[in-house]
Amino acid sequence: MQTTPKPLTQRPAWKALTAHHKAIKALDLRTLFAADPQRGTRLSAEAGGIFLDYSKNRITDDTLTLLLALAEESALPARIAAMFAGEKINLTEDRAALHVALRAPANAAIFVDGKNVVPAIQAVLDKMVAFSERIRSGAWTGYTGRRIRNIVNIGIGGSDLGPVMAYEALKHYSDRSLTCRFISNVDGTDFLEAVHDLNPAETLFIVASKTFTTQETMTNAASARDWLLSSPRATPRAVAKHFVAVSTNQELVTAFGIDPANMFGFWDWVGGRYSLTSAIGLSTMLAIGATHYRAMLAGFQEMDAHFRSAPLARNLPVLLGLLTVWNTNFLGAETVAVLPYDQYLKRFPAYLQQLAMESNGKRVTRAGRSVSYQTSPVYWGEPGTNGQHSFYQLIHQGTRLIPCDFIAFGQALSQLGPHHDILMANVLAQAQALAFGKTPAEVRSAGTPAALVAHRVFPGNSPSNLLLARALTPAVLGQLVALYEHSVFTQSVIWDVNCFDQWGVELGKALAQQILPELQNKIASKLKHDSSTNNLIRRYRKLKAAP
Ligand code: F6P
Repeated sequence: MQTTPKPLTQRPAWKALTAHHKAIKALDLRTLFAADPQRGTRLSAEAGGIFLDYSKNRITDDTLTLLLALAEESALPARIAAMFAGEKINLTEDRAALHVALRAPANAAIFVDGKNVVPAIQAVLDKMVAFSERIRSGAWTGYTGRRIRNIVNIGIGGSDLGPVMAYEALKHYSDRSLTCRFISNVDGTDFLEAVHDLNPAETLFIVASKTFTTQETMTNAASARDWLLSSPRATPRAVAKHFVAVSTNQELVTAFGIDPANMFGFWDWVGGRYSLTSAIGLSTMLAIGATHYRAMLAGFQEMDAHFRSAPLARNLPVLLGLLTVWNTNFLGAETVAVLPYDQYLKRFPAYLQQLAMESNGKRVTRAGRSVSYQTSPVYWGEPGTNGQHSFYQLIHQGTRLIPCDFIAFGQALSQLGPHHDILMANVLAQAQALAFGKTPAEVRSAGTPAALVAHRVFPGNSPSNLLLARALTPAVLGQLVALYEHSVFTQSVIWDVNCFDQWGVELGKALAQQILPELQNKIASKLKHDSSTNNLIRRYRKLKAAP
């Protein structure tokens, strides 16, 4: 059953939050911390292995109470239950959004259209395990009889960002005798640079595409097939030994020349950006092995269970989602900086960009009415400490409010002298500096010349969350990703948008299909676009033909 709460701005808690914001907006973090010595421990929550310190947000206990009331008025508990029950909550595509089923226990029963989907999920998982063992042991050989040493995942969007993020994040656990690469961009450079030092006879391509129609992926897959077939003695039969597919589209996979026995399936109720724990994770399993992969799934499952059953006030994804709503809609923040203090998480911000912005970058409600409030903020970020020497200046002293999510670990996977303590000192210092700043009086008392005081003041009062876990294990990565998936869902429920469709990507795709033959000079007829596009096409044709 779909629940229809009142329009967002008419919900009593929203109105109360608007008034509350006016009443507390002059309060700053210095004052809030001074008034409550326990704030730093009180405003925190923990789930699985992840500790969340949210005390450095511009909130009071009343803010939290009202945000939690807003969640109730938005029917968040019912919407969570509907998602886990396999209801068709992706209204515009008439589909369930059941990524949580992908990591449910093997004995769970989750129904879509009256059919328990768990046995099929487990069967694909078992097939992935058997396949990855054959590759990793060397039992699977290429067309010349050599073992596979290179894995190349071809995919884009959710069929790339999740796999590459997870591979980088869990590299510490990976088999270093296997080279893993990822090709996503239709720019031929991506393909050529990825394969330039690889031997086709030792290379396995995973063509990862839910639809098996995505232009970039199919172009790269065709180039990969050509590259393989141009190697000595390779015949079309080699394709079956060097290509596997992860897709929902068996017909097109077979037409490509991939043996359906080497296709790993998933289902239309798994959205691309929510698909990391489907067979889309095959490259991750090949890299880290089935045991670590299953540990990652268990981490996801732990956060799923927490999201489903923990009280809202102690529910990590709910808290993170509600704080994003507060910062976006009441404090006027336009972005969220995601700042992992762990080099292995270097692709995590890019992964989150698709997860959050393709999900909640919407301007109409589920019922199709225009919203009168902001929806998804822009997510961006870089690992610390690198960002500190780049864009942190703007966060500390610029004119914009930029809430930050810091992610840090108690133990380094790469132990190296004092490095980890230095890394951690920096993340703690940044959160502290952002929250409390440095007043003119403090700057003056440090002996700063009067002319420089204004330049050296740090206004502080910048909100941040800090997520802390023991170490970046496969289970913790699973928890972290599920935490953000469910935070994004929480935001969508408050904003009443469908976070599971992505119609906004269609127009550009369709126009590119029209323009392509015009660039290839296949269409000589008069160009019928706007004057700018026509002019650019003509210029491109000239540049292309230029000596
Ligand atoms: O560009 C939109 C999109 O549909 C994403 O949602 C998706 O993750 C990506 O393209 C790739 O799609 P596919 O897996 O079907 O190739």
